[in-house]
Amino acid sequence: MEISGTTALVTGGSAGIGREIAHQLKLKGATVIITGRDEGRVAAMRNLGFEVIPAGLSYARDVDNLVEALGDRAIDILVNNAGQGVDHDFREAPPDMTATDECIHANLNAPIRLGAALIPRLGEQPAAAIVNVTSGLAIAPRASSPVYCATKAGLRSYTQALRAQLGDTNIRVIEALPPVVDTQMTAGRDNRKMLPEECARQIIEAIEKDRVEANIGMVKLLKLVHSISPALAQKIMLRF
Ligand SMILES: NC(=O)c1ccc[n+]([C@@H]2O[C@H](COP(=O)([O-])OP(=O)(O)OC[C@H]3O[C@@H](n4cnc5c(N)ncnc54)[C@H](OP(=O)(O)O)[C@@H]3O)[C@@H](O)[C@H]2O)c1
Repeated sequence: MEISGTTALVTGGSAGIGREIAHQLKLKGATVIITGRDEGRVAAMRNLGFEVIPAGLSYARDVDNLVEALGDRAIDILVNNAGQGVDHDFREAPPDMTATDECIHANLNAPIRLGAALIPRLGEQPAAAIVNVTSGLAIAPRASSPVYCATKAGLRSYTQALRAQLGDTNIRVIEALPPVVDTQMTAGRDNRKMLPEECARQIIEAIEKDRVEANIGMVKLLKLVHSISPALAQKIMLRF
């Protein structure tokens, strides 16, 4: 779809991959509304000319407040990017269930709830897109973050079914599967990391070229291995 002239909502557009998606959409002529929680980061985006709705996404009421703040704005592109990691080793102690529930809500429930609220208005546009940012870990989990991986696998499954439901409409449903990207989420990890600018570039390209998936960087290789042997892909990824 043509990005110029559209209005895009990018959740978690105040940092990392989402911030780069916001910048690149704006450069291509979109009006971009971003969400984020950290006051300093959202203020910085406002100073750069972005429309900003400060919003958490950890609870249902957060999503409802965001939808209320949007009012009746027309939206052409919804990028469900906001997400948080949570690593936990169940052998050591039970997890912090508040942090766990917040992760599940922000990563999985919020995109579903936001989609439910915005699909009617996306449907009114000549062309529209929903981009759900999952992860290579949606294909095969790593052992150190069982809950995070479950949210991403759940979001992938939801995205595939939603795409089938909306297949005959004007709304393209795109899944973006990043590899390890150099953001605050991966600070301290010493993997080879992709720059967020390049990750965002490939996501924008998927929107422009009406692709169903953006398999980014090493995720292409992971999907190839998984297509040949799901067991081998799982064995490799569980080590991380
Ligand atoms: N980085 C990677 O290697 C990688 C790999 C695969 C997939 N992903 C996915 O890519 C997306 C972006 O990740 P990133 O690496 O760019 O992360 P990031 O740099 O930590 O940025 C995350 C963004 O989401 C917002 N956010 C996080 N939790 C939130 C919550 N509970 N409520 C509202 N906003 C929240 C953050 O806002 P505040 O800063 O204000 O909290 C921030 O704007 C996520 O869905 C992530 O799972 C990342």
